[in-house]
Amino acid sequence: MIIATTTEEVRHYVREWKENGLTIGFVPTMGYLHEGHASLIRNAAEENDKVIVSIYVNPMQFGPSEDLDSYPRDPERDQTICERNGTHLIFFPKVKELYPSGFSSFVEVDGPSDGLCGSTRPGHFRGVCTVITKFFNIVQPDNAYFGKKDAQQLAVIRKMTKDLCFQVNIVGCPIVREPDGLALSSRNKYLNPTERKAALCLSKGLNEGLRLIENGVRKAEIIKSAIHARIEQEPLARVDYVEVVDPDNINSIGNIEGAILCAVAVYIGNTRLIDNFTWEEA
Ligand code: PAJ
Repeated sequence: MIIATTTEEVRHYVREWKENGLTIGFVPTMGYLHEGHASLIRNAAEENDKVIVSIYVNPMQFGPSEDLDSYPRDPERDQTICERNGTHLIFFPKVKELYPSGFSSFVEVDGPSDGLCGSTRPGHFRGVCTVITKFFNIVQPDNAYFGKKDAQQLAVIRKMTKDLCFQVNIVGCPIVREPDGLALSSRNKYLNPTERKAALCLSKGLNEGLRLIENGVRKAEIIKSAIHARIEQEPLARVDYVEVVDPDNINSIGNIEGAILCAVAVYIGNTRLIDNFTWEEA
């Protein structure tokens, strides 16, 4: 497995692989890898000749009061996980490599970036889109893999790829969960044992909402209130949002018909966790 830290090194291998007619699958991450990331890497390895994983805690997508400095890091463990799951090259850029002094170009996707996490994390998706644009230009992947755990991010990246004519196929991959239902996240590391138990209220609340929809409830307000109430039974939980939206454009939905994304963001103590489900009329 190749470890590259500069754009030039990555371009060197990409050029060589493309000259040999090989396809490239790309998995962008911020490291501290878990089974959710590993599942994306395995999908990429199955569907492409070569797999590139980027590990980069992107400062541009963190707000001033967010957890950039404390974001968990474990590069050695990350390397092992990458290697075991079929990675050919890890791109580990330094901050300066991607944002040298004087950097002043940004990518913004209006529409799906508004609402949900876009409302409570202003500038977040601008940071995500800018860094992913850079990665797409450096890696030139045939396929790029994103988790449905970050459903709004997936919608924003799909829109950006279409609007800006990137020749990349965006692949959405299922949410990987702990056996008790908690969605895997690098930020779960912040939870102490009591908070870890409390964090189950996200998946429990969402299951409650899904149950109502499957029983025929179609008013989004009723679903949202039920999820809100279930989450707030947990004293350590503070709801940031509970929303029912169109999974493509992230517009709010009043009456459930066709496909929906039901998404929540909840603080457990100081840790902000997100989770969601998608549902489509059979
Ligand atoms: P990060 O949070 O490290 O996630 C990297 C990828 O792993 C994302 O596509 C995310 O949706 C996916 N992922 C995380 N947890 C998952 C789970 N439980 N099941 C399935 N997939 C999961 O998302 C980012 O990094 C950054 O915003 C990035 C796209 C790398 C841009 O900096």
